[in-house]
Amino acid sequence: MTTPSETPRPGAEPAKETFAAAGADVDVVGISPVREEGMLADEPLASPFDAATVAEAQALAARYPQSRSALLPMLHLVQSVQGYVSQEGIAFCGEQLGLSEAEVSAVATFYTMYKRKPCGEHLVSVCTNTLCAALGGDAIYKRLGEHLGEDGKPLGHEQTAGTPGEQGSITIEHAECLAACDLGPVLQVNYEYYDNQTPDSAVELVDALRRGEKPAPTRGAPLSDFKAVERQLAGFFPEDEEAYRIDVDGPSQAVETLRGAQLAADRGWTAPAMADDAPLPEVEAK
Ligand code: FES
Repeated sequence: MTTPSETPRPGAEPAKETFAAAGADVDVVGISPVREEGMLADEPLASPFDAATVAEAQALAARYPQSRSALLPMLHLVQSVQGYVSQEGIAFCGEQLGLSEAEVSAVATFYTMYKRKPCGEHLVSVCTNTLCAALGGDAIYKRLGEHLGEDGKPLGHEQTAGTPGEQGSITIEHAECLAACDLGPVLQVNYEYYDNQTPDSAVELVDALRRGEKPAPTRGAPLSDFKAVERQLAGFFPEDEEAYRIDVDGPSQAVETLRGAQLAADRGWTAPAMADDAPLPEVEAK
């Protein structure tokens, strides 16, 4: 109990009116602020997953002897619809596969390819692992964050410039080694490679993305957008699969990648043959 002479304690201002104080004739649901956000709507909210997505989810489940094995592609399918794995998406996967939401959440939060916040049209992953970092990956990440930030505040890991999902929106993230150390520093846009980058070239790239352009990756498939790639990762390909495969089967190895093998071939170097009687380690009986 406080008296008027006591110093008020720090903290939030107490509400001037409370629902608890409302009389029986007050429609507390009607005046609730959360009603405006749709949380207390009279009608249940429409599922973001339509009949076609349900059919595709069931097709995924049918691909495996144990349907729960379809969880990884199904999470990609969810991302292809919503641009991230929402709580609704977790419930959807659980329902389709007979898993609890806790089981689905455990997987969705373990792998970094599943995003828990809505992604931009494009996901830009900058390799800041040791080799790329030493070659300039850290500088690229810093410059992109500053370039895409607002009001002097740099964009951070998994933050989006623009409105997620809308054209030209870009999410950036730190990435661990992208398995292209020979071409570092590298970055990926929607998992397609852009090799031998500099801070300036990375800024040019994101500016082109913001203008709605799709600069060709250094190698591999042409650039699309995050949701389209998620659909492919789920195992669903464009109708004209032949044309798609010609694109995807484009050059994917660089001169640098093959330099060691080429030097060995030019100089006649080969690995020593293994002796026929080379002792092999014992295999422990299980
Ligand atoms: S450290 Fe960047 S690709 Fe390996």
